Amino acid sequence: MTLSGEQVQRARAFARRGSGGPLWYFLRGFVKHPVMVGSIIPSSKVLIDKMLAPVDWANCKLFVEYGPGVGTFTQHILDRLAPDAILLTIDTNADFTQYLNGKFRDSRLRAVTGSAADVREIMGNFGFDHADYILSGLPFSTLPAGIGPKIAEETAAAIRPGGAFLVYQFSPKVREFIAPHFERIDKGFEWINIPPATLFWAWKD
Ligand SMILES: C[S@@+](CC[C@H](N)C(=O)[O-])C[C@H]1O[C@@H](n2cnc3c(N)ncnc32)[C@H](O)[C@@H]1O
Repeated sequence: MTLSGEQVQRARAFARRGSGGPLWYFLRGFVKHPVMVGSIIPSSKVLIDKMLAPVDWANCKLFVEYGPGVGTFTQHILDRLAPDAILLTIDTNADFTQYLNGKFRDSRLRAVTGSAADVREIMGNFGFDHADYILSGLPFSTLPAGIGPKIAEETAAAIRPGGAFLVYQFSPKVREFIAPHFERIDKGFEWINIPPATLFWAWKD
């Protein structure tokens, strides 16, 4: 989403005033790193339910979430996750990691500051050599050069056969990054989100 100069000024003023709530953290993250955060509005509940619907939760021991931000998806993943499973969140923004660790008191959550491009190394630090599902709301098309392809390649190597890469994105261009690495890609669209988003479920057969 592109903001006008006036909108950026207003967002900055709001973020400076501060309240400590999730919207304030999200706005502050956006103002500090607009290219990395990508969107100024967290995902809608309708989008979250649709994105997570195909997950086989009974056979999910490790779920990885890239770019959790202030945890808009995180609680919904924890609500569905088995008691003995792990949710590993990876965000480049340390403010968001700190916020998640304060917000969620759930022993299944591992919130890490790092890049999705290092997913296998980060999973390895927690004793996992594969993930069942990986979710991404990363702004692929605005990430620094080379990062999108690296994340797509690393993600495909990290997911077990039968698992999937779940991607929601405002630009359908993300398909170009993931298509070389996945055998089957299902596509959806959700209007009830700001802005409306394209959804992909990329399966490892
Ligand atoms: C559009 S926000 C998504 C927020 C949230 N998941 C939602 O649905 O509302 C994108 C997030 O990706 C994070 N991010 C950007 N590049 C990243 C990378 N290479 N690895 C992990 N996180 C990254 C940003 O810090 C930001 O929190």
